[in-house]
Amino acid sequence: MAKKIETIAVLTSGGDAPGMNAAVRAVVRTALARGLKVKGIRRGYQGLLNEDIFDMQAKDVSDIIQRGGTVLGTARCLEFKQPEVQQKGADICRKQGIDGIVVIGGDGSYRGAQALSRLGINTIGLPGTIDLDIACTDYTIGFDTAVNTAMEAIDKVKDTSSSHERCSIIEVMGRHAGYIALWCGVANGAEDILLPEKYDFNEQNIINNIISSRKRGKKHHLIINAEGIGHSASMARRIEAATGIETRATILGYMQRGGAPTAKDRYFASMMGARAADTLIEGKTNRVICYRHGEFVDIDIEEALAMTKTIDEYEYEISHLL
Ligand code: ADP
Ligand code: F6P
Repeated sequence: MAKKIETIAVLTSGGDAPGMNAAVRAVVRTALARGLKVKGIRRGYQGLLNEDIFDMQAKDVSDIIQRGGTVLGTARCLEFKQPEVQQKGADICRKQGIDGIVVIGGDGSYRGAQALSRLGINTIGLPGTIDLDIACTDYTIGFDTAVNTAMEAIDKVKDTSSSHERCSIIEVMGRHAGYIALWCGVANGAEDILLPEKYDFNEQNIINNIISSRKRGKKHHLIINAEGIGHSASMARRIEAATGIETRATILGYMQRGGAPTAKDRYFASMMGARAADTLIEGKTNRVICYRHGEFVDIDIEEALAMTKTIDEYEYEISHLL
């Protein structure tokens, strides 16, 4: 018979995302309410290896639901990819009396969770990334806040861009994924949207668009460029030289990863955190909590990692049409 789960731990890993604190709070409070002991692990897998682990009570997660970042801290711990290091992580869990771990992060973090699960430590993943690029789920913790932060900043740049009749290239986050760019492109009414999944690097098309929209009397031309394409500053110089229209680049950067989470991120992260604790209590392991087709569900990590996600063709077409 599977061992009864008595103590669980929680960690955040990879890039931070607004709403991670709400998820941590929900894991801690749900597990405590069900009679479990809870431990916090600081700085992701690095903290596990360093045994940076502490007991958590309900008050330890007071007053954090509204805060951006992660109170547990996060890290990229490349050595955790090595089997002997993963074994060390599992041994530390046993030594600390940890029966299960909730890992809040992206695909990379799930691979670490999968390794621990294979080594006998029950693991549940929660999707934490501003990029919305986890294929098994329609929602990731932090995307809603990040895209709203970017949208508000872009509205401001657009105001000054119109006053000065300039062209603006605004770079948003997303090294491999264009969801923030796509959503801002639509929400901010951009003239061009460059996504890593789609961009053909044909700058002449953009130049032609700018010239024709200027002839139609448009005062600004807004280009949303995803981080994965990058080169916004040099692109601005080339576009200005080709069109004769003043062109400026703005890189929004890390401001998109911080800030108070939206109501949606607080609510969804809370529900997912609670479900992660309850899923561990049920004795399940190697699962990811997802939001799919309007429901919270848990699916196997293997299955989750095998899924791929692409930009919806219809949404992409409409983003250009509008
Ligand atoms: P994300 O979780 O947001 O995708 P990363 O890809 O940077 O971010 O992964 C976060 C952390 O997860 C890494 O620093 C490492 O500690 C762990 N990790 C990533 N890939 C693996 C892997 N193949 N095996 C074990 N652990 C991994
Ligand atoms: O968390 C996702 C993300 O913000 C990506 O959009 C970006 O490419 C990456 O993290 C940057 O992470 P860092 O600079 O912290 O390694």
